[in-house]
Amino acid sequence: MGVLNKDKSGLKGSFTTMVSESRQTTDTNSNSTALAVKNLSKIYDSVSGKVVALDNINFTVKKGEFVSIVGPSGSGKSTLLNMIGALDRPTSGQVYINGIDIFALSDSKIATMRNGLIGFIFQSFNLINRTTVLKNVKLPGMISGMPVSEANNRAMKILEALGIADKATQKPVNLSGGQQQRVAIARSLVNNPAIVLADEPTGNLDSKTGDDVFDMLKTLSRKFKRTIIMVTHNPELAESTDRSILIKDGKVERDVAN
Ligand SMILES: Nc1ncnc2c1ncn2[C@@H]1O[C@H](COP(=O)(O)OP(=O)(O)OP(=O)(O)O)[C@@H](O)[C@H]1O
Ligand SMILES: [Mg+2]
Repeated sequence: MGVLNKDKSGLKGSFTTMVSESRQTTDTNSNSTALAVKNLSKIYDSVSGKVVALDNINFTVKKGEFVSIVGPSGSGKSTLLNMIGALDRPTSGQVYINGIDIFALSDSKIATMRNGLIGFIFQSFNLINRTTVLKNVKLPGMISGMPVSEANNRAMKILEALGIADKATQKPVNLSGGQQQRVAIARSLVNNPAIVLADEPTGNLDSKTGDDVFDMLKTLSRKFKRTIIMVTHNPELAESTDRSILIKDGKVERDVAN
């Protein structure tokens, strides 16, 4: 399982240069801070008018912390995760990942950063079904310029660590939901991301399978010191994380250690 240990080997060449060049120094960007969200707001323009999805959100996450984001439907949880993951730009405010002010970068640098520093796990797995499990897992590595043999090795070792190496040549569609989510977890780890973002990762799974997937995330957090931010509607899972942030009407309503 050594492949899951935190090391910087996934960050290569120009990408590493880009990261160090754009490193900022503010109080929220100390070495122990993985993520800092500052005055973050998102307003959507819809046919029925403006929707304030996020309203001045502020918090920081330490390296190795496992944080759950909870709150009612429509409160802004997915919007928040999408901003942290730089899938969409905020209306105002900043997101710092490992000290880098991501929205100060150009769109193409944001894309490079997203692939190298952020791992995503979605409720609906979001795997590519026309290709194999192995190719799905190594894809972020290939995009970031990892040599093919290294990408293959890393992907296989992670699949082994997650107990699904025997599925490497299968198409994801032939796997069970729990197995597909393991593939998505493996894919999220291939580049040694600074943070792993999971939006209701157990939402499409029965409770036993969901608990297994959650236990896997917990192992990644406890044993391998991964920084994980997980949206969940399940109060028991939320309480099993280090800290829960309650979002209501786009604001942080509560932020408590568990
Ligand atoms: N692309 C969009 N365009 C317009 N409004 C949007 C868009 N995405 C989200 N919203 C609105 O922003 C608000 C927050 O939505 P979001 O999806 O973040 O909620 P959520 O907390 O993830 O909800 P759920 O628990 O149901 O997944 C909602 O009012 C939603 O309708
Ligand atoms: Mg959501």
